[in-house]
Amino acid sequence: MAADERSAPVGIDVTIPNGARIYDYLLGGKDNFAADRAAAGQMLAACPSAPATATANRAFLQRAVQYLAKEVGIRQFLDIGNGLPAQNNVHEIAKRAAPDSRVVYVDNDPVVIVHGQALLTKADSTAVVQGDLRRPGEIIADPEVTALIDFSRPVGVLLLAVLHFITDSENPAGVVATLRDAMAPGSHLVLSHTEDVGQNDAMIAAKRGFRSAGVPLTPRSHAELVRLLDGFELLDPGLVDIHRWRPADSDPSGGDPDWMLLGCVARKN
Ligand SMILES: C[S@@+](CC[C@H](N)C(=O)[O-])C[C@H]1O[C@@H](n2cnc3c(N)ncnc32)[C@H](O)[C@@H]1O
Repeated sequence: MAADERSAPVGIDVTIPNGARIYDYLLGGKDNFAADRAAAGQMLAACPSAPATATANRAFLQRAVQYLAKEVGIRQFLDIGNGLPAQNNVHEIAKRAAPDSRVVYVDNDPVVIVHGQALLTKADSTAVVQGDLRRPGEIIADPEVTALIDFSRPVGVLLLAVLHFITDSENPAGVVATLRDAMAPGSHLVLSHTEDVGQNDAMIAAKRGFRSAGVPLTPRSHAELVRLLDGFELLDPGLVDIHRWRPADSDPSGGDPDWMLLGCVARKN
């Protein structure tokens, strides 16, 4: 059953749509309110593949974290813009591969922090920290982050469906460069990002939905994203439609989505 206004966290105005809760609704979650569902409904009318794209993004996250934990041996993850708890959160995937994995979740939305902390109260070596990707220097210096993440050792940094909420005037290249400079050689960045496919109805609706939630969406082209990844080596198959990043047999095929996310795993050498 979906949340109703009586179950809202204290101090949270649930009459204003919220980006994390809209995404939760698209994923079939229950941590959303009427205003979120109304904003999501407008998006869905013009962009019916939005739920499939959100689900594909979670599947991409799972494959990428599994790859880093199992095949590369990464044992610490910093998931920035983690969103509301969903199925297969990063700590669950990483700890299945290696129980000693450490995970820090960072989000700037107090709703996400409240939910995450409730979920993780008993989980050791995992933390949920409030922070803003627009100020990455503060995230990597946060004592709650550095208590679990040793930046002198390889780390997996996840920017899944969040960098597109950093506008061009907020210096996304500087944000990525600050994170990159803090990451030890052998660290990896996982990125998924809305692709700029021009002004089609779906993209206009997606932008309107997120703007109403106070988080303007900035889709970017493949070339723009490759430039943002300066200093990283893109691993095979590169920066591609997330459905095409090392798909598992069980993953749904991409079909012809009207809202595309590009994704990659990139290594700092
Ligand atoms: C679409 S959700 C993505 C959730 C998850 N990373 C995933 O891919 O499934 C975007 C999340 O980014 C968070 N977010 C947006 N702007 C942010 C910022 N400047 N700093 C930190 N988190 C941010 C939102 O609160 C939301 O939880």
